[in-house]
Amino acid sequence: DQTLTVLGIESSCDETAVAVVRRSAAGVEVLSSVIHSQVVKHAEYGGVVPEIAARSHVETIDDLAQRALAEAGQPDIDAVAATAGPGLIGGVMVGLSFAKGFAFARDLPLIPVNHLEGHALSARLTEDVPFPFLLLLVSGGHCQLLAVKGVGDYERLGTTIDDAAGEAFDKIAKVLGLGYPGGPALEKAANSGKVERFTLPRALLGRKDCDFSFSGLKTAAATIAYEHVKTEQDRNDLCASVQAAIARQLVERSVRAMKLFREHNAVTSPAFVVAGGVAANATVRRELQALATANGFGFMAPPLKYCTDNAAMIALAGLEHYAKLCKMGIEDRESLIVEG
Ligand code: KG4
Ligand code: ZN
Repeated sequence: DQTLTVLGIESSCDETAVAVVRRSAAGVEVLSSVIHSQVVKHAEYGGVVPEIAARSHVETIDDLAQRALAEAGQPDIDAVAATAGPGLIGGVMVGLSFAKGFAFARDLPLIPVNHLEGHALSARLTEDVPFPFLLLLVSGGHCQLLAVKGVGDYERLGTTIDDAAGEAFDKIAKVLGLGYPGGPALEKAANSGKVERFTLPRALLGRKDCDFSFSGLKTAAATIAYEHVKTEQDRNDLCASVQAAIARQLVERSVRAMKLFREHNAVTSPAFVVAGGVAANATVRRELQALATANGFGFMAPPLKYCTDNAAMIALAGLEHYAKLCKMGIEDRESLIVEG
């Protein structure tokens, strides 16, 4: 088995990140993973400002790459992987251009990576999760259920028809004056709140698919906030009710996806992987874990540092694609198609 070492770059939102990941017969090893968060720069605007994000990526990426290579012990790099989308175009262009320059100067292949594929494979950074597995990807921009059958082989079972779960957390937190980023702040407030205080709508109840919808919840929460939230306790109670409602919808849709997954994939005890920033939420994690256990799925959530945006997952996704290309005998730089 071939040993491959890949430099990964992520810059699609408000984190600039560079990582070096190696895969050998011994397994996957993250040699370094450095992240520069721009959160403080965007906080005063209550959300990510694309222009500020792009400029900050430009300012930090070179330094971060040097640090990632130094922390990894200046290893020989076999390929460069970079997020090519989806994301804020200014940021994506910064990361991808840097990656192109780096690869061109060293005569290395450049592997464009879909950001979502990075999240999809992130669980394999720390555990050898076998294919096929069921994935719930819950981030600020996405909310999807996928059957992950192999590298580059995904079947979408469900997606949001409006907001992503993280977006719902962020927007409701904003209405409640909890600042940005809203998810962690809302969770903190919810810890001192009473879940049963407010009744919130259950979306898409009768539907047989695995889609999500959070816009009704958002509106309901905003209305309650306007009419009933006067004290800090009121606010904490609403946070607890909102968090429970989001977790419940994730559970209700995931249980359907588990059924579909079983119908299409003959695996005795498949893994249910939860990835993306919202997987950092303890209530969401706990309820999904209980669901997995009750339905005969093994539960896996990547460590928090690989749940939110990072470059190790991009390096790994690039590495897995590159390994596939090598197997097919098309590993030279000229024959690789560079997208993005
Ligand atoms: O995966 P991620 O870092 O970025 C995207 O690709 O979107 O996810 C960020 C999202 C944000 O919406 C953030 O509010 C949410 O994940 N998030 C949380 C928590 N930590 C992060 N949501 C709820 N509870 C948390 N503890
Ligand atoms: Zn992400």
